[in-house]
Amino acid sequence: MPEDRLISPHMLGDEDYSETSLRPLRLSEYIGQDKVKENISIFVAAARERAESLDHVLLSGPPGLGKTTLATIIAGEIGRSIRKTSGPAIERPGDLAAILTNLEPGEVLFIDEIHRLNRSVEEIMYPAMEDYAIDIIIGKGPGARTLRIELPPFTLIGATTRPGLLTSPLRDRFGINCRLDFYETTDLEKIITRAASILNLDIEPGGAHEIARRARGTPRVANRLLKRVRDFALVRGNGRIDRDIARQALEMMEIDEAGLDNVDRMILEAIIVKFGGGPVGLETLSACVSEESDTLSDVYEPYLLKLGLIQKTPRGRMATELAYRHLGHRFNQSLNEGLFKED
Ligand code: ADE
Repeated sequence: MPEDRLISPHMLGDEDYSETSLRPLRLSEYIGQDKVKENISIFVAAARERAESLDHVLLSGPPGLGKTTLATIIAGEIGRSIRKTSGPAIERPGDLAAILTNLEPGEVLFIDEIHRLNRSVEEIMYPAMEDYAIDIIIGKGPGARTLRIELPPFTLIGATTRPGLLTSPLRDRFGINCRLDFYETTDLEKIITRAASILNLDIEPGGAHEIARRARGTPRVANRLLKRVRDFALVRGNGRIDRDIARQALEMMEIDEAGLDNVDRMILEAIIVKFGGGPVGLETLSACVSEESDTLSDVYEPYLLKLGLIQKTPRGRMATELAYRHLGHRFNQSLNEGLFKED
């Protein structure tokens, strides 16, 4: 899988740094997700007023929508530092115990991909979240004793692309539950314009609009596209990003009018051509398009579902009428060329 792909679920090579520089630091600078912002601002203000630590927060939604950014903003708004880790990085209960006992009072602990915490680690988390304490078992058999270690008050912010995979005891211990959704094109236009100004780029509203409407509702994708379009504008144009140059650059990257890339189209084509429109199971589909099944379900499917191009049924994924229409012109062309003949 090429490492520079636009729709990668992860941050790419140098992006940790460059994306950080584009990230808003205050809630007031954060564009979109109005409902989530409103909730957070109320809970943050209340926690400040009572001089208490903020209740634990669960942020869920597809990758690239700004869960990590929001967590950093929340810590900033309550005036605390943040420690970041991820579910898979905490392998044993002892790893989590070490992290928790080293927190400063009121600090924020951010755990990305929290649905991937293993069960024995998760069990340490329950009393930590509820009572600010961890229970350590010393010895074995009848002589075993439980030793309770008190922790400083802290706020856990968990992020997940798959809230459905969280166990209910863990989910129930989050007092604040925020679901991030795909951004509106108008919000993405503002995000692109803001990023362009930080990066000192010359961009016209038409250019920002063209990028925004093909950025699959995702700021991370929008910022990546912006950088690619900037390069294209520099080499093929005069550096200025207008609608026409943005369109040419996006066409060259094979991002279509709906923001779909090659992999999205391969998924739709596989369902339609190889499986007669579906239903087809996730594993079969992922083998067919050579993508990890987690990438398919976390990264590609949410957007295809949002556009109404696929449906999830108990027996698998199905292409909708809209998918046939979306691929229509390509199909007609390919059928003429005999590409989809199975024998
Ligand atoms: N950059 C990435 N996401 C953003 C957001 N929601 N608001 C402002 N800038 C962003």
